[in-house]
Amino acid sequence: MKKEPLIIFSGLCSLNFTASEGLIQTTSHNCWTVFAPLLANVMCCPQLDATLTIILGNASEETGLLALNRTQSKHCLLDLERILLGKGASSQLRSICSLYSSNLTVSSCPVIEVDEFESVECCEKACQNAILDAATNITLKASEPLTDNSVRISDCKNIVHRWLATKLELSQAKETLRGLANCKINRACPLVFPDMRDISGNCSNGVSSQTGCCGAMDSYVSHLQKQALITNLQALDCATSLGTKLQKLNITKNVFNVCRISLKDFSLQESGCLLPSLPSDAIFDQDSGISFTCDLNDNIPAPCPSSSSSQSSASTCKTPVRIPALPAAASSQPGVTRLVIFVLSVVLVILLS
Ligand SMILES: *[C@@H]1O[C@H](CO)[C@@H](O)[C@H](O)[C@H]1NC(C)=O
Ligand SMILES: *[C@@H]1O[C@H](CO)[C@@H](O)[C@H](O)[C@H]1NC(C)=O
Ligand SMILES: *[C@@H]1O[C@H](CO)[C@@H](O)[C@H](O)[C@H]1NC(C)=O
Ligand SMILES: *[C@@H]1O[C@H](CO)[C@@H](O)[C@H](O)[C@H]1NC(C)=O
Ligand SMILES: *[C@@H]1O[C@H](CO)[C@@H](O)[C@H](O)[C@H]1NC(C)=O
Ligand SMILES: *[C@@H]1O[C@H](CO)[C@@H](O)[C@H](O)[C@H]1NC(C)=O
Ligand SMILES: *[C@@H]1O[C@H](CO)[C@@H](O)[C@H](O)[C@H]1NC(C)=O
Repeated sequence: MKKEPLIIFSGLCSLNFTASEGLIQTTSHNCWTVFAPLLANVMCCPQLDATLTIILGNASEETGLLALNRTQSKHCLLDLERILLGKGASSQLRSICSLYSSNLTVSSCPVIEVDEFESVECCEKACQNAILDAATNITLKASEPLTDNSVRISDCKNIVHRWLATKLELSQAKETLRGLANCKINRACPLVFPDMRDISGNCSNGVSSQTGCCGAMDSYVSHLQKQALITNLQALDCATSLGTKLQKLNITKNVFNVCRISLKDFSLQESGCLLPSLPSDAIFDQDSGISFTCDLNDNIPAPCPSSSSSQSSASTCKTPVRIPALPAAASSQPGVTRLVIFVLSVVLVILLS
């Protein structure tokens, strides 16, 4: 029999975590100890958020409430953290995922009772617009005006997600919530761009050494690669951001093309991994550790930024861009797939060496 570490519960949380063991297990894999920071944005935090949402939604079927009060939320968060830690998850989830006990409460949303909720809303489709409409409608029920209504709409969105989770099958609820989260994260590059002094010195228009320029580019990109595992769409955002920065430095030649920078160069390296726009869960195996699937189908050459910002200097950028699939379409894409199983223990060795 497998030995589970002994977990001391507060005894003060009314949520039934046993009923969601599978979800919590998956969360601990996606948020595995030292790898949690690398997978935070794309896999760990969205899964943690989906898990909380589903558990809270499920609890509402008994309590009729879609949120916990403040006392409960503190105890429940501590209990959940202890369970996740016992299953191998990082102990830093609060900071990695900006997780607060208020994530379990209603925050500023005025409606938490399921009955009241269902009389206000009829949400037909699990689509973002319907959720936003629903959240906005519910927000309007607040009697006290808030200075910043967008905060309240965002709080109500979380409540709508919990309610939605009760209307879907467990696996469907999870997929939907992860899909919604990834739609959002795929819109921005999560990487921090270091100073570009070496690139500007080696690649500016007057300097003609391709070797020097590409050396500076490679060195720069290698700093980006240490930061996180990212999705194909995030990599596209990152390429665009970097391209825009190059243009601002008056570097008009297409250094991405010249130096053969591709999308996967923006993600954590070694075996080469670009996550699909909606990554599948990490899998734990006794022998090989944590692994997940990378999809290099979308590893296209990094495209030049859109030429709208500087028509004149973009003449070298004519490569057509094949945009990778959006999360909704990702699973239904047939065609060839070049999948790589990425085993994180390999990365650990690299990062710690
Ligand atoms: C929690 O859920 C499990 C599985 O659904 C069930 O067996 C158990 O009785 C529940 N515990 C409580 C206290 O409701
Ligand atoms: C939801 O709660 C029911 C009991 O009310 C339980 O049987 C079921 O396993 C729970 N599902 C999840 C995902 O927590
Ligand atoms: C918790 O709430 C904060 C602020 O509303 C949000 O940024 C964060 O993503 C939430 N964390 C999780 C794990 O849901
Ligand atoms: C918070 O919720 C719990 C469980 O629903 C309840 O026992 C407790 O009295 C509530 N506390 C407050 C301050 O409302
Ligand atoms: C929001 O409220 C308006 C007016 O009450 C209603 O027509 C609309 O269907 C509501 N939207 C949703 C998503 O329920
Ligand atoms: C060129 O790039 C290298 C790193 O690849 C750097 O050490 C050097 O200082 C750069 N030269 C200039 C003039 O910026
Ligand atoms: C780029 O070129 C413009 C026009 O020649 C000039 O005004 C600007 O200062 C240059 N920027 C940099 C960062 O060299």
